[in-house]
Amino acid sequence: MIRVVSTISEMRQARRALPEPVGFVPTMGYLHEGHVTLARRARVECTSVVASIFVNPTQFGPNEDFARYPRDLPRDLSLLEPAGVQVVFHPEPSEMYQPGATTYIDVGPTAQRLEGASRPGHFRGVATVVAKLFNVVQPQKAYFGQKDAQQVVVIKKLVADLDIPVDIIVVPTVREPDGLAMSSRNTYLDAQQRQAAPVLWRALCWAQELWQAGERDARRLRREMVSLIEAEPLAQIDYISVAHPETLDELEHIEGPSLVSLAVRIGKTRLIDNITLGGP
Ligand code: PAJ
Repeated sequence: MIRVVSTISEMRQARRALPEPVGFVPTMGYLHEGHVTLARRARVECTSVVASIFVNPTQFGPNEDFARYPRDLPRDLSLLEPAGVQVVFHPEPSEMYQPGATTYIDVGPTAQRLEGASRPGHFRGVATVVAKLFNVVQPQKAYFGQKDAQQVVVIKKLVADLDIPVDIIVVPTVREPDGLAMSSRNTYLDAQQRQAAPVLWRALCWAQELWQAGERDARRLRREMVSLIEAEPLAQIDYISVAHPETLDELEHIEGPSLVSLAVRIGKTRLIDNITLGGP
């Protein structure tokens, strides 16, 4: 039976009884096949698996979707149990953020770019909650999706800079049959918007095709992606980036591996996606 705990002290106690290595899958819930794939991978590589479900208020901006972020705990548990998760940590915001708590983690320049530029304070909230979750759960390995490529960069920097003894395992993006990256936010899309949403994936595939044909001018790749997306009337570009995969500096000429990423609004819903060119 899967066990749900909602306080830090219960979680610490449950953790002490788990055989190691412990794998950890942090989530905000409303789970889909992408999250479940992380849990299954953890199950294969670890003796015990803990997941967390916590819609973290500190990573949402004041005008973002914290209040309306979808939530469905019973459904989430029915997906996590067959994936081999033993313990789910599901705290209230008041349990994670005690009154008077004032300490936050500032990850530095990589957190300011791309998502960080569009969502000020986002990665400060992500880094802080992930560090707190690591302290409570104390996993040997933690599983993150390539879907949130910049989040992976930020978390890897967090554990390296603060000497946190957790291996960060990155899992490839799980997609719908038409290429749309699975996301809890896809449920915001109406039927017409859902039809338009694969434009992100098409733009990434087009960039990859050009790159495979020998194109190394990053500005040309960005321009080509802009025109492809602008042809979709429901889509509004937030950013399109061709950047160094670790520093996230924008590239002019592509020499080594590069991270091609984008954020696009379809109606009020903001979608992100990415691919790595020339990666491992
Ligand atoms: P959430 O958006 O719920 O995502 C939880 C994990 O699932 C993240 O590592 C994310 O990259 C991964 N994921 C989401 N969609 C995926 C897909 N289509 N394929 C593969 N992996 C996917 O990311 C967060 O929550 C939060 O920022 C969190 C790390 C939990 C901190 O609050």
